[in-house]
Amino acid sequence: MDTVLSGIRSTGHLHLGNYFGALRNFVRIQDEYKCFFFIADLHSLTTHPHPDDFHASVKTILAEYLAAGLDPEKSAIYIQSDVPEISELYVLLNMIAYVGELERTVTFKEKVRQNPNNVNAGLLTYPVLMASDILAHRAQRVPVGKDQEQHLELARVFARRFNNMYGEEIFPEPRNLVFQGGAVKVPGLDGSGKMGKSNGNGVYLYDDEKTITKKVMKAVTDSGPTEPNSPMPEVIQNLFTLMKLVSDQSTVDYFTEKWNDCSIRYGDLKKQLAADICKVTLPIKEKIDAIYNDDAYLSKVVASGRERARESAGATLSLVRKAVGFKSF
Ligand code: TYM
Repeated sequence: MDTVLSGIRSTGHLHLGNYFGALRNFVRIQDEYKCFFFIADLHSLTTHPHPDDFHASVKTILAEYLAAGLDPEKSAIYIQSDVPEISELYVLLNMIAYVGELERTVTFKEKVRQNPNNVNAGLLTYPVLMASDILAHRAQRVPVGKDQEQHLELARVFARRFNNMYGEEIFPEPRNLVFQGGAVKVPGLDGSGKMGKSNGNGVYLYDDEKTITKKVMKAVTDSGPTEPNSPMPEVIQNLFTLMKLVSDQSTVDYFTEKWNDCSIRYGDLKKQLAADICKVTLPIKEKIDAIYNDDAYLSKVVASGRERARESAGATLSLVRKAVGFKSF
């Protein structure tokens, strides 16, 4: 049985990008694979969260994972920092990761541009830590959104390089796990780019109906088509991309026709889109608070996840240490 692993950084609440890019796919395959799903709290330290917010974010994401349908009976759900084997592997993989290839990563270049005053080494080696998450369990499949595919490619590079350097096939090469249509990029409501935690353009699983409706009604549009069957500008395509994720095919077809014959009314489209987003997110939202406040349950979930993750990563690290040449006296 293949091992599947994925994770999400612990900053703020989960948004539709996290849900459709990674979480939903994971929830769907829990019966078919050996599953690990974790909260990347170490990764979130690149932005130096306040210690109080740091823990609260982990707890928030944990509650949202469980509310979205991750099942602790089926999947090992754990906190990255609870598994020291990951950090050990990170040290070892850093020795075979080259600064040049890390500097060329799109996400690194983006962060440097956005935050020139905080270009820390953790940001540069972010993909090495991510590779450590994956390779620690020798996972074959990693459900992620399109934005993480370059990181996944690096994990394959490090896996191959390690195997070649030490002459042993310890690590399989991890591949994305996606459903029809390939890896998704969920757009933001601001007309450009992807939905992201720091972009202020997202709909969150924790948003209530009023907030969702308000956000969607304010989404950027244009002045409308002037000729039948004209190509759609990106801002409108984005709304259709969201619609394809949450609405029935017949709804998408209806509004596509309206676009094509120039009778589309963006207000109607947005109202429908907001209602269909709510259909997906509100049942999840309903469960979040009760789970968040059940400390005994959360601590049980985390303890069991930690145990399973450490057992799996520990087995990998024994092989890795041996391959590298560590010996006890
Ligand atoms: P993060 O926390 O930015 O996002 C978590 C997951 O959500 C997906 N995602 C999206 N997918 C489509 N459209 C979007 N707008 C969108 N925004 C986010 C991401 O692709 C990701 O799958 N480095 C990772 C966390 C991580 C990880 C790992 C993932 C750490 N170690 C090991 C997999 C395996 C990250 O920052 O994702």
